[in-house]
Amino acid sequence: MRPDLAGEFLPDPGVTFLNHGAFGACPRPVLAAQRRWQTRMERQPVAFLDPGRDLVRRMREAMARLAGELGAAPGDIVAQVNTTQALAVVARSLPLGPGDEIVTTDHEYAAMEKLWADVARRAGARVVVARVPLPLTDAAAFTAAVAGAFTSRTRVLFLSHVTSPTALVLPIGPAIAAARARGILSVIDGAHGPGLLPLDLGGLGADFYAGNCHKWLLAPKGTGFLHARREVQALVQPCAISHGWTAEGASPGPFGNPAFVDALEFQGTRDPTAFLAIPAAIAFRARHGWPAVMARCRDLAQDFAARMGRRTGLPPLSAPEACAPQMVALPLPQCEPAALKRALLERHGIEVPCHVWGGRALLRVSVQAYNGAGDLDRLEAALARELGL
Ligand SMILES: Cc1ncc(COP(=O)(O)O)c(C=O)c1O
Repeated sequence: MRPDLAGEFLPDPGVTFLNHGAFGACPRPVLAAQRRWQTRMERQPVAFLDPGRDLVRRMREAMARLAGELGAAPGDIVAQVNTTQALAVVARSLPLGPGDEIVTTDHEYAAMEKLWADVARRAGARVVVARVPLPLTDAAAFTAAVAGAFTSRTRVLFLSHVTSPTALVLPIGPAIAAARARGILSVIDGAHGPGLLPLDLGGLGADFYAGNCHKWLLAPKGTGFLHARREVQALVQPCAISHGWTAEGASPGPFGNPAFVDALEFQGTRDPTAFLAIPAAIAFRARHGWPAVMARCRDLAQDFAARMGRRTGLPPLSAPEACAPQMVALPLPQCEPAALKRALLERHGIEVPCHVWGGRALLRVSVQAYNGAGDLDRLEAALARELGL
């Protein structure tokens, strides 16, 4: 690994941390950049936070830098606190009615399953779950499984780009195109996308793509975003109406940006400093040659998966090509995942998620720049001990 990079983060020396995928971890220079913005804010809060002064320009500069990273037009992307909020804004805005259907998969994040269940219940609509064929080998089989669930009542396709329980990269492009061809709105949960996958949000063509910068892009916590195709931006209504919103939704909005941006990005007294530090996170990754860091992390994760496969004799969920770079979910032998997770933390000082998915016990390992081979050796030894492997 790059042991020099571990010092750029703030790891707890008493914990082997293999769960970057949960909430990320932000490097020291990026936190320092945020701290500098916070100091400026607290010196003269009105000058800093009043959208009539520098806030709008500063936020738009940071978001334009992010848009450049993600292959998006700056006017199509707005800052949101996290993916949870961005997806709630979309799901609650869509015109769903009785009998309508939302097609999704059996690999979605549990909180988002709750969101769509609630939205469907209120509208009298129905959530239809398509099974992703495993092992995940090609886009055609995935697209066929998803599109096979479409009916004349389907209004929304909801897919994760990188799945949370199974750490797979879903080949979403053709499924999005299939949805568009049938007039179905596509909503993508890209919580793990930015910084983990090369993104071209303009080219991808999803109607809505929500993501996080605080996981793999290494920005401070609370840096989500929503990207929307220009043609569907007018559908979106903010959860909280603030000064940038207008009833007519005319562009430019009160702060001189597209109506979508002004209505969603500026909200009362919200701390903008995490967003203003996004360019520092992008610069940190560039300074440290991130493609090579990612390649090493991927190799460590896949090597660990192969070693565990030999110990357990269980086949992987999918081939390495379908796995998220830097993350892998492994099948475990019969066990109680919650108890195993607790034992790994309490007896071995290892933070790593274990859960049940589709009736199977899974372990999800994230490998980030601050992890070394020794971390995975410790996890392997602890699992061998706890599971008698
Ligand atoms: C697939 C997926 N969607 C949504 C979320 C929620 O992200 P956030 O907590 O930043 O809103 C997560 C968090 O891990 C996730 O894995």
